[in-house]
Amino acid sequence: MIIKSCLITVLVIGLSYGSENATQKEFTEEENEAAPNFLIFSQRWPMSACRAWQDRKRTLLPCYLSREPNSWKVLSIWTAKTGKFPTIGPLFCNTSWYFNPHEIKSIAKNLSEDWTSVEVNEYKYFFWAFEWLRSGTCVAQVSAALGTQLDYFSRGLTWLRQYSMTNILADAGIIPNNTQQYLLRDIHHAIKQKLGVNPIIECRQEHFENHLYELHICFNLTLDLVDCDDISVNFPGVSRFTVNNDTLFSNCDFQKPVIYPEVVRNKAISKFEIEYALRRNLNIYNLLQWLIWMTL
Ligand SMILES: *[C@@H]1O[C@H](CO)[C@@H](O)[C@H](O)[C@H]1NC(C)=O
Ligand SMILES: *[C@@H]1O[C@H](CO)[C@@H](O)[C@H](O)[C@H]1NC(C)=O
Ligand SMILES: *[C@@H]1O[C@H](CO)[C@@H](O)[C@H](O)[C@H]1NC(C)=O
Ligand SMILES: *[C@@H]1O[C@H](CO)[C@@H](O)[C@H](O)[C@H]1NC(C)=O
Ligand SMILES: *[C@@H]1O[C@H](CO)[C@@H](O)[C@H](O)[C@H]1NC(C)=O
Ligand SMILES: *[C@@H]1O[C@H](CO)[C@@H](O)[C@H](O)[C@H]1NC(C)=O
Repeated sequence: MIIKSCLITVLVIGLSYGSENATQKEFTEEENEAAPNFLIFSQRWPMSACRAWQDRKRTLLPCYLSREPNSWKVLSIWTAKTGKFPTIGPLFCNTSWYFNPHEIKSIAKNLSEDWTSVEVNEYKYFFWAFEWLRSGTCVAQVSAALGTQLDYFSRGLTWLRQYSMTNILADAGIIPNNTQQYLLRDIHHAIKQKLGVNPIIECRQEHFENHLYELHICFNLTLDLVDCDDISVNFPGVSRFTVNNDTLFSNCDFQKPVIYPEVVRNKAISKFEIEYALRRNLNIYNLLQWLIWMTL
């Protein structure tokens, strides 16, 4: 809403200032008013998300890692517009449509495993409430099939099962491993071959290495998979590469291999570590989390 008001203000100022190219300005206004025609389904890799969060918060706090941390999780389903001026969004389409935990009660257990944030938040539902307000309220406006909170979150779970990057990559022999180096084009190829569409592949730069971070696939409003090409260049940092006859969209450093980092849990807790934790007034849960972190 704030963004929209700003745009309108800019347009009004622009017009009163005297327009040099009226055709162009009318076109921009028309584009701003156009409804989103694209959905993006984003999956995120927990290990990379953990490092991203720790960097952002300048913390060494351990991340929250679910039962199966070596599997892709849902990040979001969100809207986008293609056309002459492709844009991601809109966002926050109805900020008075609050997230209601009762509506998703029947799938809360699944969400806790498959649609999780690694961030340690006080409020259990924070991540879902945020995703709903930011993206869900906009998706609900353009897709009747995703018109309620239960529809929206269930769809995320269904798509994760149907388009699980954990399985798609594993079927191509691409499995999490902290030392194995993969090629960006092989990751692209694995997805393209299975789904028949171009995804967007995002990395984080970690000590000058590419770490696989987020994978996005795109749908049109009848919920059919489509190439992400039309929206890709509007992802921050994402470029287009052509390899043989494949078109890749990625922000990864194309000159370097890609690491698909693995979470390695250490099951053995020594007496020393327990004593150490007790001395530092860590509770056992924190101790476990801390040990998981220490063994990464
Ligand atoms: C206005 O913009 C359009 C589209 O970019 C262009 O084709 C046209 O020549 C421009 N007209 C003027 C008067 O600059
Ligand atoms: C926003 O959501 C509320 C609660 O569901 C609803 O009553 C209202 O009509 C919605 N507003 C718009 C503009 O869609
Ligand atoms: C929830 O998870 C269980 C066990 O993994 C699975 O059988 C069930 O289909 C899931 N339900 C939904 C709505 O995803
Ligand atoms: C990880 O990759 C390295 C190097 O390719 C290999 O030697 C090692 O066995 C792999 N580890 C696992 C757990 O697969
Ligand atoms: C979505 O894509 C499918 C397959 O390409 C196509 O049949 C369908 O008409 C498209 N729907 C819309 C709304 O563009
Ligand atoms: C790329 O496509 C062209 C035309 O379809 C074909 O002739 C060529 O062999 C392809 N190249 C590769 C490397 O697949």
